Order: sequence, then C-alpha cells, then structure tokens
Amino acid sequence: AATTETMQGILAAHKGREGPLLPILRAVQAEFGYIPADVIQIIADDLNITRAEVHGVITFYHDFRDAPSGRHVVKLCRAEACQSVGGAALSQAALQKLGVDWHGTTANGTVTVEPVYCLGLCACGPAAMIDGKVVGRLDADKLDRLLAEVQA
Ligand code: FES
Repeated sequence: AATTETMQGILAAHKGREGPLLPILRAVQAEFGYIPADVIQIIADDLNITRAEVHGVITFYHDFRDAPSGRHVVKLCRAEACQSVGGAALSQAALQKLGVDWHGTTANGTVTVEPVYCLGLCACGPAAMIDGKVVGRLDADKLDRLLAEVQA
C-alpha cells in the first residue's frame, strides 16, 4: 500500500509532461533504491503503454536496478584511460573475488559492483568510486584492502 501511495504521488507529479517515462523511473529509483517489479504495471497503466515498453526502457538504461543494491556500492571505471592502465584485469579480479557479475550484489547483501564510465580521474587510473568517494591509482592490493574494509 505504501508503494501504491508513493506511486500515485510520483505519477501525479509527472502528469501531462512530455516523455514522462524516464523521469518517472528515475523518481521511482530515487524513492525505493530500485524499480520494484510491481510498479511496472502501475506505470504502464498510467501512461497507457505496455509492460514490455516500460521494461524495455528499464533494461536499456543501465542505471536502473531491478533489485535493491547492497549496503556498499563499488563503482569500477571501465572507460578508456583506466582500461589502458590495467583497469579491465583489476575489475575482473575484483568481480571474481566477490563472486558477482557487473551490477551484482554479494550473497550477504554487503557489496554491489557497478561499472562507471570515467570518474574524471583518468590521470591516476585505474580509478573507482567506493560509497561515493573516488579513489585512484588502484592496484590489486589496494583494491583488495578497500573491499575488505567495506565488507568488515
Ligand atoms: Fe577512468 Fe577517466 S577513464 S577515470
């Protein structure tokens, strides 16, 4: 019921706007931290579009999550400059160690790993953002240490 009320508020705020789907989805994610499956039908009904259309937009934009994220969010830079200084291998090692794929959350709900495309720290890559804080000059040891810290 809380979801329904919140959804009514969000939908009302976007009534009559042009191209409302994206801003509605952003508002939903800001509110709940992800897009709960049951709001898809509510949005589709309100905008008079199909569930598939709503779903298509959710999957097209990688920022939308279909499940809550973990308590800590680790964003690893996958853009060019970081890749050229070992970012890819570093990311793969971290994903393997945590046992998740991109966008995945560790089984205990502690850490979610997201890709990010440049953090403005290209000169000191590989770079990452851990709970909103940017860190550069990562190597396997430093990243291991940081991951251990957030999991502690
Ligand atoms: Fe990674 Fe810019 S490419 S911070």
